Amino acid sequence: MSPTAESSPAGSAPEYPIRTERLILRPITADDAAAMHAYKSDPDAVRYVPYAPLELADVERRIATTWSNTRFAQEGDAVCLAVEDRATGALLGDVVLFWRSETSRSGEVGYILDPRFGGHGYATEAVGALLALGFDGLGLHRIVARIDERNTASARVVERLGFRQEARLVESEWFKDEWTTLLVYAQLDDEWRDRVHAE
Ligand SMILES: CC(C)(COP(=O)(O)OP(=O)(O)OC[C@H]1O[C@@H](n2cnc3c(N)ncnc32)[C@H](O)[C@@H]1OP(=O)(O)O)[C@@H](O)C(=O)NCCC(=O)NCCS
Repeated sequence: MSPTAESSPAGSAPEYPIRTERLILRPITADDAAAMHAYKSDPDAVRYVPYAPLELADVERRIATTWSNTRFAQEGDAVCLAVEDRATGALLGDVVLFWRSETSRSGEVGYILDPRFGGHGYATEAVGALLALGFDGLGLHRIVARIDERNTASARVVERLGFRQEARLVESEWFKDEWTTLLVYAQLDDEWRDRVHAE
């Protein structure tokens, strides 16, 4: 699909799996539940994501409902993808691309790694593939990441990928029983194209 000012993700089903140098991004299935539970039950790993540590049954239920969606039918939809090590087949984590607005062609990324697989650039590589999917595949104009300012590892992921910090929203969210200061990062399609072509 070629991105144009008129293009819309509506009805888009990206081609899976998405391959990068070291990773496969593919739809999440019921078989992923146990491996996902290992990190989604870890209080440190879910500290800055919008759910509490999950029980295995929670993970199974979410996979059966929202997390296994593979298509963008309408704005508000999200596609979550498992991030798998091409070499070993291990589940390293998962990423999500939200389609936020049809009119504004905007999206948002989210990501989480199993802490055992941190520090290798896997999240950066996986989110880089989500940007390609969003800008090139779906024709989005703008993709944002909203990050708790204490989550410095997450901010480094998007900074490595060329996102600009646009805002620091002081104590803007009441999140997990405390005020949270959010950093808003964004990247535009043209910025992404310039960066990718320069690499
Ligand atoms: C946010 C999160 C995914 C970042 O994980 P991460 O391991 O730091 O990110 P990456 O996988 O991209 O790895 C980058 C690190 O690996 C290092 N690295 C090692 N080998 C590398 C390689 N071949 N390529 C790139 N980076 C490499 C980088 O230097 C970098 O370390 P640094 O940030 O200390 O400089 C992880 O902390 C996490 O899952 N947190 C919990 C969930 C969460 O908060 N999600 C975000 C919500 S907004």
